[in-house]
Amino acid sequence: MKDIDAVRNEALSEIDKVRDLQELRRVKAKYLGRKGVITEALKRIREIPAEERREYGRKVNAVKEEIEEAIKHREETLKKDEINRALASEWEDLTVPLQNTVGSLHPITITLRRIVDIFRGMGFTVEEGPEVELEKYNFDMLNIPPDHPARDMQDTFYINREGYLLRTHTSPVQIRTMLKHRPPIQMVAPGKVYRRDDDPTHSPMFHQVEGLVVNEEANFRHMKYVIETFLKELFRTDLPVRFRASYFPFTEPSAEVDIGCVICGMKGCRVCKWTGWLEVMGCGMVYPAVLEACGIDTDLYQGFAFGMGVERIAMLLFRIDNIRVFYENDIRFLRQFS
Ligand code: PHE
Repeated sequence: MKDIDAVRNEALSEIDKVRDLQELRRVKAKYLGRKGVITEALKRIREIPAEERREYGRKVNAVKEEIEEAIKHREETLKKDEINRALASEWEDLTVPLQNTVGSLHPITITLRRIVDIFRGMGFTVEEGPEVELEKYNFDMLNIPPDHPARDMQDTFYINREGYLLRTHTSPVQIRTMLKHRPPIQMVAPGKVYRRDDDPTHSPMFHQVEGLVVNEEANFRHMKYVIETFLKELFRTDLPVRFRASYFPFTEPSAEVDIGCVICGMKGCRVCKWTGWLEVMGCGMVYPAVLEACGIDTDLYQGFAFGMGVERIAMLLFRIDNIRVFYENDIRFLRQFS
């Protein structure tokens, strides 16, 4: 019994003196581990005379609990100390002014501005919409009903509230614009979009620019002209452009637009996958049901729309082969654009 009291006092004083979690673990093992002092004391209960056994067991267990409690308490204090120490030593003064440092625009911003400027020059207005979007605008009103396979194609981030999601494309801004303005409409909508994708060529957040034209005579030829003129202006060369039949639920007919590979001059390379062509956007004549859902009279009006990925275009303009570098904010990368 005397020994147990001595063990208790020794343990408590050791726990008190411990300076870090590692030392504490050692003390814990010494007393409570499989071969620990207390564990061994409990095993010895059979050697104790029968009449003292009860009292002995009670005592050892009480000491065991006391030590456990002390260790838990000490652990909490040490953890708190550790956090406070980190807070005190690991901080940076973000208000210190840097000398001779001029910031520069991010390559995505440069590309976005260039795209939007070209369309402004062609008489387009600029519209914006929210990134947290109604499912109704992102899908239903774009002729993508709930059971449509195109919903899976888009790897949607749903928001934990009925009817909301992170927009998967900028096309809902078409809907918002048509609900707000009567035709003629001639607008572009730049912005962030979100999809559950993440690999060297996909990022869960990226940028698109949407275009929409609605008036009395919009037709496929107008669309081709606008897109070809835009692409030649953007890449500042008379590059070859081709339209390939494609499918989007909200346009009919739909097309995918390819440009001659600007990396290899159409000889064939890794970027164009040895085809000589690069896909840069989707487009098509706005499906009449989409116009009608927005209250536009399809006997009078027609429209065309297009949408492009900004990262993709920035990669081609600046010859960047990995989408990740746009989001890592490595100063050595960013400085190249000043
Ligand atoms: N919203 C389509 C996409 O993200 C692109 C697109 C826009 C296609 C407009 C046609 C018309 O894939």
